[in-house]
Amino acid sequence: MHILNRPITFQHITLTILFSTFISLLKFTPMNFTLRPWTLNDLTSVTHHGCNPNISKFMSDAFPDTEAKWKNFLDFATTDESILYLAIDIDGEAVGGIGVTPQKDFLRKNAELGYWLSEQYWGRGIMTRATKEIVKRAFERFDIEWIFATPYDINKASHRVLEKAGFKLEAKLEKIEVKNGVELDELIYGIRKNSKKLYHQPNRLAL
Ligand SMILES: CC(C)(COP(=O)(O)OP(=O)(O)OC[C@H]1O[C@@H](n2cnc3c(N)ncnc32)[C@H](O)[C@@H]1OP(=O)(O)O)[C@@H](O)C(=O)NCCC(=O)NCCS
Repeated sequence: MHILNRPITFQHITLTILFSTFISLLKFTPMNFTLRPWTLNDLTSVTHHGCNPNISKFMSDAFPDTEAKWKNFLDFATTDESILYLAIDIDGEAVGGIGVTPQKDFLRKNAELGYWLSEQYWGRGIMTRATKEIVKRAFERFDIEWIFATPYDINKASHRVLEKAGFKLEAKLEKIEVKNGVELDELIYGIRKNSKKLYHQPNRLAL
């Protein structure tokens, strides 16, 4: 075989293998991040990382897609203490969000989990670790027994995050959602306060 009319040597092959190994290691090296409260200073970074159709297509239609909407979100997230809403911080920059919202009335023993992450950091195990951590904190902070999440049927990455964080698939509701003009199934995943999986998690993250 030849590249640009030069024969492929043993050296070429070794370099290619080393390069691919380096890229794989980079992808699978766990990234350091912290979960911390939102601040109004997060506006530039959250607008940069959050305004992305590859993220919003998996979120509700209320997910912010302009700087003005992110400003409204930050005004709310920095003042409303009824929700545990945290920024995912890498090197001082807010690159994602995760939140647990307690429900009201006869559903008050339940809370809903939601999350998103900058596309640039997908596949590094960040959301699995963030989910495990916020679930523990939410059970400590709120008088709740069950935390649930409702990903679309097509959102395989989110299903995997929930499974890895100890959630159980509890229900599938067929064609109850319309996203971008398409009818979608909704899955309901849940985890209970007394779940054994909850108490076999690695060390806590810094706040
Ligand atoms: C879903 C999301 C938060 C995942 O974050 P993340 O940090 O990349 O997640 P993790 O790295 O912890 O885990 C992702 C898992 O999904 C898997 N995955 C990713 N894409 C997949 C796909 N298309 N099909 C099947 N599995 C997939 C990964 O391989 C990984 O599993 P593994 O560790 O067993 O290999 C991120 O993709 C995101 O922000 N998506 C858009 C917003 C969103 O979907 N929010 C949730 C709404 S319910």
